[in-house]
Formats: sequence, C-alpha cells, structure tokens
Amino acid sequence: MAVKAAITAVGGYIPEYKLTNSILEDMVDTTDEWITSRTGIKERRILKEEGAGTSFMGIRAAEEALKKRGISAEEVELVICATTTPDMQVASTAAYIATEIGAKNAFSFDLQSACSSFLYALVTGAQFIQSGTHSKVLVIGGDKMSSIIDYTDRTTCVIFGDGAGAVLLEPNEEYGVEDSILRSDGNGREFLYIKSGGSMRPPTEETVKNREHFVHQEGQQVFKFAVTNMADVSAKIMERNGLTSDDVAFLVPHQANKRIIDATAKRMGIGSEKVMLNIHKYGNTTSGTLPLCLWDYEKQLKKGDNIVFSAFGGGFTWGSVYLTWAYDAK
Ligand code: UT7
Repeated sequence: MAVKAAITAVGGYIPEYKLTNSILEDMVDTTDEWITSRTGIKERRILKEEGAGTSFMGIRAAEEALKKRGISAEEVELVICATTTPDMQVASTAAYIATEIGAKNAFSFDLQSACSSFLYALVTGAQFIQSGTHSKVLVIGGDKMSSIIDYTDRTTCVIFGDGAGAVLLEPNEEYGVEDSILRSDGNGREFLYIKSGGSMRPPTEETVKNREHFVHQEGQQVFKFAVTNMADVSAKIMERNGLTSDDVAFLVPHQANKRIIDATAKRMGIGSEKVMLNIHKYGNTTSGTLPLCLWDYEKQLKKGDNIVFSAFGGGFTWGSVYLTWAYDAK
C-alpha cells in the first residue's frame, strides 16, 4: 500500500496585541456592526515586537509542534514556510526558521500563493513523504499582514491579522493526505495585489508617497470568485472520494469572510458545528488560517476523522485537500 503523509503534530503562535473592532472605529470610518455582519471578525492580533517579522511567529509555531511530537529539530529534513510576507526580499524565511529552531539537517524553502500558500505547501510537503525520500517535513504557514496593510484604508484594514501555525508531516500506512485539487487563474491578479515593490514596479519615492506598497483588494470581485470556487472544489473533492456530509468530521476553510465559509459549508451540506472557525478572533491571517484552525480544534479531532481543507486567495489561487486525521490529541 502506498505510504501517506500524515499530520502528526500541530503548533501555533498568535501575537498578544488585540486590535478590536472598537479600536478600528477610532482609526477609520467603520463600525463594529459593519465589520461583524459583513465579515464575522471581532478582533485580530498584531505583532508589535520591534524588528520581528513572519519568522518570529513561525519559529514559535514550529517549536511547539516539535515539542508536542517529542522529537528533536535535527530529525527534520525539510522546512517549508508558506508566506506572502517573508521577513525580507531574497533571503529565504524558511532557511532562517530552520536554522533558528536547530533543524540543521534540513533544506528549506518559502512558498508563496497568497491565501492558498499553506494548502499548496501541505500538498508539496506531502509529495516528499509519499515519494519515500523524506520522513519528517515541517510545513509552516504564517503572515505578518500588518506589515502590508494600510491602516487608513477601511476596505482592507478591518480584515487582516497576524499569526502562524505549523504542522509536522510523517509517513503513515493508514492516515494522511488522501486527495487534493489545486487550481489557479492569473487573470485574478487585477483584483488583489500590492501594486509596487515587485519586479514590475520597483519602489521609488513616488510609489511610497502614493501608498502603493499596501494590499489593494476589489472586495466584491474577489468575493464572487471565492464563493464559487471554494465551494466547487470542496464539493468536487467530496464527490470523487465518495464522501457524504455525514462522513466529513470537519471542514477547515480559509478564514477570509464568514459569509464565504457559510456558502462553502452549505454547498457541502455540512452543519456549522463541523466548520472550524477562528475568523472572529484572528481575522484573515492569510497563510496562517488553516494551521491555526487545526491548532485551535486539535483536541476535538479523532484518529480516522475525515477532514476537508478549502482555500481561496490572490492570484487567483484556490483548492481543496481531503485528509484523514492520524492521532487523538493528548
Ligand atoms: O483571503 C483572500 C481572498 N479574499 C477574500 O476572499 C475577500 C473577499 N471579499 C470580501 O470578503 C468582501 O468583499 C469584503 C469584506 C472585503 C467587503 O464586503 P462587501 O459586502 O463586499 O462590501 P463592498 O466592498 O461591496 O462595500 C459595501 C459598502 C461600500 O459603500 P457604498 O459604496 O455602498 O456606499 C463600501 O465603501 O461598504 C463600504 N465599506 C465599509 N463601510 C464600513 C467598505 N469597507 C467598509 C468598512 N466599514 N470597513
């Protein structure tokens, strides 16, 4: 029987500082009522430590996962950091995380696919396990979204937050990643992007003055694509694996908007009690949403549970993963 890539431990890190809707009411023209009813968000966490980037959170999440599994970092062979907000341009954030946690025998790389980064990284990491070449792969998903958000733009600053999660992947005969559908459509980049700072439009005084280094989102356009595509791939992965809604223990959806999550669950015929949710307390942490859901719900997961992940993000990128859970939490 082919070996599967199982999640064998989960870690997470969220910054202490809480940016609540009521604080945002004093910063931009918005209301708690608007944010709650349109997105489901009540507060988000912001990393305030001077000079700390995404790795600060990724290191802590990774260390927790290894500690829970009871293995040494030296056993880890690969570290993937899924992020849209690397510590720096050019230098790999994953390499820095690997070195800081003491994974000195690992190779490492970053993977960027906006809000689908963790889902893509999970499938990528799983390939190294399934091929038999590697047996301990750390997949970290995290973003310091506050570093690319304009806190004078009410259409984006109420949505995003900072946080990171990590999972350890190991070979398993019975449980693990069962199936995946990953998709992308480059036409979507006109609706969700940072205009400047990349190779097309490098930074200048002008780009900084025009606030072109912050996230710009055409919310309604992204919403339309997200609702349809997240629901489509999630329903498809259930169908092609013969899963009914009764068979699914949990939907682990990207936390961009509670209304998108509800629409996806409805298409899958899944009740709200089976939907992992943390958007109300963390907002949209981009690459952090899925592993942080696992981190929050780990104790409710049982060996053999059927889990369906679903994500949608900039690019556009989206997809769904069907995984069987490998352990009962201690
Ligand atoms: O994670 C990556 C993928 N991203 C997503 O999946 C996000 C998808 N999009 C969304 O979640 C939603 O489109 C948003 C939450 C971003 C916006 O919600 P919406 O219901 O689509 O609002 P809208 O953009 O259509 O704006 C409706 C109104 C506008 O005013 P007018 O033109 O009707 O007068 C906006 O200016 O709400 C206004 N508005 C706000 N009002 C109060 C926009 N932002 C705010 C705000 N507070 N923060």
